[in-house]
Amino acid sequence: MQVDRRTLLATLGATAAIETMPSDALADALEHYLSDQLDQTAGAQQVESAERTVRRGVGSLFVMQNDGASSPKQLEPMPSKPTLLEFFRLRFAPANHVLQSATRAQKTGMSEETILACLLHDVVLNLIKPDHGWWGAQLVEPYVPEKVSWAIRYHQALRFYPDQSVGYEYPEMYYRIFGRDYTPSPHIEAAYKYARNHKWYMEARLITVNDLYSFDPNAKVSIEPFIDIIGRHFKQPKEGLGNDNSAVAHMWRTIANPDQPL
Ligand SMILES: [Fe+2]
Ligand SMILES: [Fe+2]
Repeated sequence: MQVDRRTLLATLGATAAIETMPSDALADALEHYLSDQLDQTAGAQQVESAERTVRRGVGSLFVMQNDGASSPKQLEPMPSKPTLLEFFRLRFAPANHVLQSATRAQKTGMSEETILACLLHDVVLNLIKPDHGWWGAQLVEPYVPEKVSWAIRYHQALRFYPDQSVGYEYPEMYYRIFGRDYTPSPHIEAAYKYARNHKWYMEARLITVNDLYSFDPNAKVSIEPFIDIIGRHFKQPKEGLGNDNSAVAHMWRTIANPDQPL
């Protein structure tokens, strides 16, 4: 996907604010920008600039789409016992970037757990964007194998560190956008060092490998190839996501009902 630096900067906010933004936050903003752009090119006309009236970190469900609309997109009500598939269809759609990531993982013969991790790795961006690795892991933690949520948590940090063993280079695009002198925040570096020596390191690393290649605006993707994998590895609560009294049920309810005033 082509990145127009000026459009990106206009979307992120004033140049002065960007100059004071930590580089890893800027890199996150880039990823979220690309992910949002991809979803919008799937179904909407693009508008070149957007004056921010909300914080950059607000989740995609809570802001106007960058397509000239005057209000956030209309949402269909959720069923009374919503499943993960229904969240994909009614709240995360078109979910182009995560579907592309999971498709690449599947085509390259990766494990079902890695495919699931790729499918879920950025869905929390609908809710909130800063520290999305941590938020994203927390969102799915009660329902997925432990190493899947672990991988989602650490993919955020690993994106900044190359690994020749799997052909993961530092993203060239980051040089162009942020310059060559950046260093990640201390908490990102600490998370990387911890993850690098962990037995599940490669689980998180493989998310970044599939992440890097998953911003093709012409890719045709679908949730269909992943339905059986979700069935085998995602513990869908019988009460429905948001109704199961888990420690994260409120997060699913917020995604289901983003117009709740309190
Ligand atoms: Fe991510
Ligand atoms: Fe991603």
